[in-house]
Amino acid sequence: MVRVLVGELPSAIGRTVTVKGWVDTLRLQSRVQFVVVRDHTGAVQVTHRRGGEGDALGELLRGLTVESAVVVTGRVVANPVVKLGGLEIVPERVEVVSAAEPGLPIGPGTGPEQRANWRFLDVRRPERRLVFEVQTTVERAMREVAAEQGCTELHTPKLMGTASESGAEVFEVGYFDRKAYLAQSPQFYKQMAIAGGIDRVFEIGPVFRAEPSFTSRHATEFTGVDVELAWIDGVQDVMSFEERMLHRVLEQVAERHGEEIERHRGVRVVVPELPFPRLTMAEAVQKLRGAGWDPEGVREDLDPEGERLLSALVQRETGHEFVFVTGFPASVRPFYHLRSADDPAVTESFDLLWKGVEITTGAQREHRHGRLVAQAREKGMDAGPEGPLGRYLDCFRYGMPPHGGFGLGLARLLMLALGLPTIRDAVFLFRGPNRLEP
Ligand code: 4AD
Repeated sequence: MVRVLVGELPSAIGRTVTVKGWVDTLRLQSRVQFVVVRDHTGAVQVTHRRGGEGDALGELLRGLTVESAVVVTGRVVANPVVKLGGLEIVPERVEVVSAAEPGLPIGPGTGPEQRANWRFLDVRRPERRLVFEVQTTVERAMREVAAEQGCTELHTPKLMGTASESGAEVFEVGYFDRKAYLAQSPQFYKQMAIAGGIDRVFEIGPVFRAEPSFTSRHATEFTGVDVELAWIDGVQDVMSFEERMLHRVLEQVAERHGEEIERHRGVRVVVPELPFPRLTMAEAVQKLRGAGWDPEGVREDLDPEGERLLSALVQRETGHEFVFVTGFPASVRPFYHLRSADDPAVTESFDLLWKGVEITTGAQREHRHGRLVAQAREKGMDAGPEGPLGRYLDCFRYGMPPHGGFGLGLARLLMLALGLPTIRDAVFLFRGPNRLEP
């Protein structure tokens, strides 16, 4: 018989249907047996009134275990007393296609390590699985905007022969008789694509960072969303691309999942108004000082505490959850960020903060070969033709248009959209310094 999804049962009242899913809960009484069966669209109560001798179905249900995979065939009956949707299934046949061992290794009070060990059971909970449904919507909306804006989607290599962008934070892997490195960002390759005449580049792909960070926002492997745009007039073109993309993303998340996110997580998805507020680093520092916050080094970069406070201050003033911070000093930015024409100590770069967390770094890039080489040397890097940057720097020798782009951490975006306490819950299988399994 054709499978009917639990979510479709309200329109199947009076019919005999087959439902396929897992045993969610069991309440087996001597006169009546209640089995709640769950699939990815909801849960339904299966109610069996026990017969006398020879009640084979009743005996089968008596032996059921929670989380067994079952196929239930029976009649859908309206019953206003039933809390789960005011209906139940009166079973004719139940098949246990794969029994769960008794005694589940995880339950409501289980800690994060044990949950990670048994992640496949963990994500059977609808409130945990929701994040992947939202992720699907987010990626679809991003691709939609990227295509409308004339982007070409690329997949750049994740194995690299040199540890180029910073040298630090890269994983080394054995590669036949030599060493290779896992890409810590598609940065150089997306710029290479710009040099190759691909006008606007879009990529969703894995990013690896050998950072021994044990925070709620760091993973050693995550999915990066990268955009690079040629022929821009300034970094503001990159910011307006990104804010339009996020506007569309949150519009679709609110429409498709807003109600469920609010029910499971108590978080309201706000579709942001355009444009997002923008502050220079200098203005941000002034604002933070005004709020009595002035730790050392605040002129240079924002630490997580500064990001949180700044976001809160901007939200209080403007009602906006996002804020672009621009004009970071060259000392805290990579060598390839363009220096400001007014002040070479400042870069044409930005971070985007959402609800107090950095979700994006972006910039206009230095496209002039001579200046780029000088900036790399200034940072103490080897900019020679045979050095690790040689192939990258070649891209700037034969006509490179002005360009800029950004990188966004998908898991951070999802963590914030759903109000999850940690990035671990925003990915299917988390990778951190102490977590390589399953
Ligand atoms: O700020 P990041 O390191 O910037 C780059 O990789 C640049 N090449 C991007 C560019 O085009 N300018 O990383 C970009 C984003 C961060 O803002 C953050 O959201 C996320 O990636 N991210 C991480 N997410 C999870 N775990 C980590 N360890 C992350 N490191 C960065």
